[in-house]
Amino acid sequence: MIIWFSGTGNTRYAAETLGKLLGDSDVRPFTPEMLREPDKAFIDCDPAHPLVWAFPTYSWGIPPVVEAVMSRCRFGEGALKARHVMLTTCGDDMAYTDRQWRRIMKKRGLRTAGAYALEMPNTYTLMKGFDVDPAGLAEKKLEAAPEALRRIAEAIKTDGRDILVRLSFSWAKSAIVYPWFKRFAMSPKPFHVNAGCTGCGTCARACPMKNIAMRDGEPVWGDKCALCLRCYHICPRHAVAYGKATDGKGQQLLK
Ligand SMILES: Cc1cc2nc3c(=O)[nH]c(=O)nc-3n(C[C@H](O)[C@H](O)[C@H](O)COP(=O)(O)O)c2cc1C
Ligand code: SF4
Ligand code: SF4
Repeated sequence: MIIWFSGTGNTRYAAETLGKLLGDSDVRPFTPEMLREPDKAFIDCDPAHPLVWAFPTYSWGIPPVVEAVMSRCRFGEGALKARHVMLTTCGDDMAYTDRQWRRIMKKRGLRTAGAYALEMPNTYTLMKGFDVDPAGLAEKKLEAAPEALRRIAEAIKTDGRDILVRLSFSWAKSAIVYPWFKRFAMSPKPFHVNAGCTGCGTCARACPMKNIAMRDGEPVWGDKCALCLRCYHICPRHAVAYGKATDGKGQQLLK
């Protein structure tokens, strides 16, 4: 089984492609219900296939909503017997996301195999200096992805070595910045719309957490937010903003 969380489609694409390469048709998303109530989530699979956890890298770690399901869900017999594999997509640096994942798997008594990362177009736009990839770079990453996923599938089949996307200062990024980011930089409160909003509701329908309600023809954000930025990137009017941080920033959506 491949279970995926994806804001803007990169991880969904990676999970679905990997499912085809591994001959595993059980490729499914984390449901909004699981993400909103991780203690009630139940995960089981056919142990003949590895259980692949697929998610984007957030601030050099696992998205907190995914981490909560991993740490607190109940597992069926098949999931307890299966080999567990990690697949993360990132803009350019996963730092020690794999170590965080291995720690959780160990705590849960699960058998781990490889950890894999795939470089994909960047989607983070909420801080100064962070924007979508410059022209040409996203296309280059997307061109390279099929071959990179073929190598990852081969490594999973043969119990091969980890394939990681890691730059420098990984310890500081994952052990210091990640917890800070989780605590102080993930609030949905700054989300609002600008005058371009037509009230079409696309952002509300697309939210993987069901965190957006339409009120008086405008989206209103709740507090169960993954900060996946799907609402920001999917808006056909580019009308979703996050404080002033998104002023002049681009959009990037795969599907
Ligand atoms: C909140 C947030 C934090 C991010 N942090 C990182 C990061 O630490 N390192 C990185 O390389 N990319 C980072 N990114 C970029 C995503 O990991 C990358 O674009 C990923 O492929 C998005 O996957 P998705 O389309 O499945 O959501 C971040 C994106 C978001 C939304
Ligand atoms: S997708 Fe954009 S235009 Fe449509 S309701 Fe949401 S913010 Fe408004
Ligand atoms: S409100 Fe927006 S950023 Fe938050 S989970 Fe929903 S789509 Fe993602």
